[in-house]
Amino acid sequence: MRKKITVVGAGNVGATTAHRLVDKQLADVVLIDILEGVPQGKGLDLLEAGPIEGYDVHIKGTNDYADTANSNLVVMTAGFPRKPGMSRDDLLKANYDVVKGTIEKIVNYSPDCILIVVTNPLDAMTQTAFRASGFSRNRVIGMAGVLDAARYRTFIAEALNVSVENVHGFVLGGHGDTMVPVPRYTSVAGIPVTELLPKEQLDAIITRTRNGGAEIVNFLKTGSAYYAPSAAIVEMVDAIFNDRKKILPCTAYLEGEYGIKGLFVGVPVKLGARGIEQILEIKLTPEEQAALQKSADAVKELTAVIGV
Ligand code: NAI
Ligand code: 2OP
Repeated sequence: MRKKITVVGAGNVGATTAHRLVDKQLADVVLIDILEGVPQGKGLDLLEAGPIEGYDVHIKGTNDYADTANSNLVVMTAGFPRKPGMSRDDLLKANYDVVKGTIEKIVNYSPDCILIVVTNPLDAMTQTAFRASGFSRNRVIGMAGVLDAARYRTFIAEALNVSVENVHGFVLGGHGDTMVPVPRYTSVAGIPVTELLPKEQLDAIITRTRNGGAEIVNFLKTGSAYYAPSAAIVEMVDAIFNDRKKILPCTAYLEGEYGIKGLFVGVPVKLGARGIEQILEIKLTPEEQAALQKSADAVKELTAVIGV
């Protein structure tokens, strides 16, 4: 029997994610939104692409949570995106209400699902979903690191004029201005990037990565990125559904790892059929550890405001 995924939020990220999921035939998809007609229209449009694209997976748009029942995985994208000049953190309170309310309904119908949270501010919203669901920590995962690392890898590949596939690296910390790309663990075909790019150029790439979301917002004017975010979500879904044991940077609930307790922060994890199957604790220099702690402190400020 095919697996079932619910995507909450039929906006730019949600609809693009649904599109990628059915294209890859990863599962039947339910697209749910508070807007009447929008998920139904986008769902039907995607269903009707099936004969051309050659997929038999089913997709349905709805406003009724009963249709989401028994989902294996739920992607939470509902909320409001950033507008120019608005920080991710400005979204905090509005999106807290949305995430808490929708997760409670989701859990009611799909008590065994794995949750991938996308709504911003990402780390605080993942913590909101964790508290609202009551799930164990392996089943609540935030998407940000895969996206931030993809931006970082893109800029390095461009700078060196090499394939993006040759560039490996990750980003630690919260999905915000304090995120921590780690050049010491970044390599190009196995060669440390620090031997290939001068420090000033790497610093500029790190700054551009930290501002990667805002760079797109400034171009789009209304709304934020969705092509790369949806690709990141689907890489995570694929790792889980195909039990790949893939190591990816994801937002995970830390219980003492990296000296951080009771907080969702981006770290390298192993993703497989059970969700987060392992949190990898890599050795950090005192400077890297301080940068991660600073980023975690920024997340903590937000979670304290909403009391999660
Ligand atoms: P969007 O505005 O295109 O779509 C959001 C959708 O959520 C809308 O269709 C809206 O009607 C729906 N919605 C609002 N309240 C709802 C509720 N109570 N129940 C169900 N649906 C509801 O926004 P977009 O671009 O899809 O972004 C969605 C969220 O994802 C934003 O918070 C954005 O900041 C975040 N995001 C996070 C990324 C990450 O790396 N973690 C990357 C990209 C976006
Ligand atoms: C991004 O980084 C908006 O958080 C989103 O593109």
